[in-house]
Formats: sequence, C-alpha cells, structure tokens
Amino acid sequence: MKVSVGNKIVLIGAGDVGVAYAFALVNQGICDHLAIIDIDEKKLEGNVMDLNHGVVWAPSRTKVTKGTYADCEDAAMVVICAGAAQKPGETRLQLVDKNMKIMKSIVDDVMANGFDGIFLVASNPVDILTYACWKYSGLPAHRVIGSGTVLDSARFRYMLGEMYEVAPTSVHSYIIGEHGDTELPVLSSATIAGVSMRKQLEKDPSLEPKLEKIFEDTRDMAYKIIDAKGSTSYGIGMGLARISRAVLQNQDVAVPVAALLRGEYGEENIYIGTPAIVNRRGIRRVVELELTDHEQERFKHSADTLRAIQEKFFPAEEK
Ligand SMILES: NC(=O)c1ccc[n+]([C@@H]2O[C@H](COP(=O)([O-])OP(=O)(O)OC[C@H]3O[C@@H](n4cnc5c(N)ncnc54)[C@H](O)[C@@H]3O)[C@@H](O)[C@H]2O)c1
Repeated sequence: MKVSVGNKIVLIGAGDVGVAYAFALVNQGICDHLAIIDIDEKKLEGNVMDLNHGVVWAPSRTKVTKGTYADCEDAAMVVICAGAAQKPGETRLQLVDKNMKIMKSIVDDVMANGFDGIFLVASNPVDILTYACWKYSGLPAHRVIGSGTVLDSARFRYMLGEMYEVAPTSVHSYIIGEHGDTELPVLSSATIAGVSMRKQLEKDPSLEPKLEKIFEDTRDMAYKIIDAKGSTSYGIGMGLARISRAVLQNQDVAVPVAALLRGEYGEENIYIGTPAIVNRRGIRRVVELELTDHEQERFKHSADTLRAIQEKFFPAEEK
C-alpha cells in the first residue's frame, strides 16, 4: 500500500467546473500533485499540458498529470466534478438519474484502488450525490464533504457587498439548505462590516424586500449564467479550492459545505448545506446556526425536498 506523504489531489471530471478548480489549485499552490481523470482523454491531455505551462508563475510547484484510478491509493483528497451539467432551464434535481450512475461507478473505482483520504463532491444534485458518495464509499461521514452552498453563500456575500459598498470578505452570511431552488438565506445571524443585519432589519423593516430580492437573484443566478455562457465554473472552482485549502492546511475554518446532519436543525441522515468546521480530518463538526421560526420552516422544507429524492435511491430504514 502506498502511503500519502504529500498533498496529492485526484480530480475526477475535467469539464468546465473541473478545469476551473484545477486552475485555482495551481494558481494558489494548494497541492503538490494534481492527477486528473476524465473519460475524454484527448481534451484532458490538452488541459494537463496547458495547466503545467502556468506552474512556473505559481506560488509553488504543482505537478499536474493525467491520472488513473491507481493514483487514488496515496491521494489526500479525491474531488468529483464529473457528470452531466444543467442545460438551460433544467433544475439540478433533474440531473439525479444520470449522475447517480456515474457517481457509483467512480466511487467503486476509487475505493477499489485503496483510497483512504477525503472526498469532496461538486457534481449535481450535490447534496444527494454527496450522500450517495458516503454510502457507496463506506467511509465515515466526516471524510465525505459536498460543496453544498459554498457557491451560493459566496454569491450572496458578493451581492450584499455591492449593496453596502463593502468587500465581500467583510460580509458574513450563509445560504443554507439544498444547493438549489429550496435554499434559504440566514439573515438573522448575518453581519455587514460587523453590524448585525437583524438589528438593521428591526430599525428599518423596508430593508426586508430588498434583501429578499438579493437572495432570489442569488438563488436564480446559475440559470442566468448558464443561459449566458453555458455553465458556471469560476465561482465554484474557487469555492472548491477554498474547501481543499481548509482540508490540506488543517485550517479549522468555518465554510459552507454539504455535511451529514445528525440531529442538527432537527434533521438527520441527510447531506445538506450548512456551515461546518473543516480541517485535515474533514468535517470536524457541523455548525448549527440559530434560526428564526421562519428560517427553520424553510430549512425543513428544503430538507424534506431532498429527502424525498434521496429515499428513491436509498430507502429509509424501518425504525
Ligand atoms: N456544486 C456546485 O456548486 C456546482 C456548480 C456548477 C456545476 N456543478 C456541477 O458540476 C458537474 C460538472 O459540470 P461541468 O459544467 O464541468 O460539466 P461538463 O459537461 O463541462 O464536464 C463534465 C465532465 O465530466 C466528464 N465525465 C463524465 N462522466 C465521467 C466519468 N464516468 N468519469 C470521468 N469523467 C467523466 C466529462 O467527460 C466532462 O469532461 C455537473 O454535475 C454540474 O451540475 C456543480
């Protein structure tokens, strides 16, 4: 058995999302070896050559190679971006049949090659496919992470930042729930440059419809971008790189991801978007935000929507 001595990442699926993630990894010098697998071998060879030609200008050396499943044996992380993407007007949940089969075959191949690291899943519908990855791999849940609402939260912070004219890094707010149409913003615990959003809403209730509009634009942003350029890629690529850095650098940082709930928010046995503390062991713990009654109702609706689809593939066990 090969033992992981470095920070090797195996990326499976080098389409628009996978390549954007690979570019972010190389640019930020996050891993020392990036092995990439895709069924479109010719395009993959082109991307591997192209990525290697930027390494000389990167903050540290990343060896980028065309990978095989044997690469998984000593990998610290396997990141899955393979599968069908949304077509214009298609919801993420409509991708589930196609992508569930792809997920099973990929996870079987990864595990057959002795993988003992951390999975990060981005393929959609990401919450359901992360649950599937956990079930198919047999790994403990803290070592299977989904990208969840990392992108949605980044979009929301950006758009709030534009409204308040502050950098998105000074805006703290999470989108939680399904990465999709039933997600919700948690305004009750949001802060803008340290000022509580809840207090601002109490002082000026006319803010509420404006904020709801920003949230709706955030939620529907993927449809707009897909309509304009065919896919969304750079935002999620950088979000995946952020989660990877949290893992490989053992950061104990709070990031929005899809994590398995075990009673948090009153839910269990479901992967769903929530902040979590992420480090070299994966998800150290789920952060349970304090929700208002209305936010809790919306979260439950989101969890119920996901569970209805999840149970078609993984029926609930009798209690
Ligand atoms: N989680 C998020 O926030 C988020 C954001 C954007 C897209 N996505 C999802 O990411 C996935 C990829 O999107 P995309 O725009 O890159 O699509 P894409 O069509 O550009 O790329 C998909 C890639 O997967 C490869 N592939 C398919 N089956 C494979 C297999 N069995 N093994 C290896 N490679 C395989 C294809 O050859 C292709 O290169 C989609 O499911 C999409 O919905 C997620």
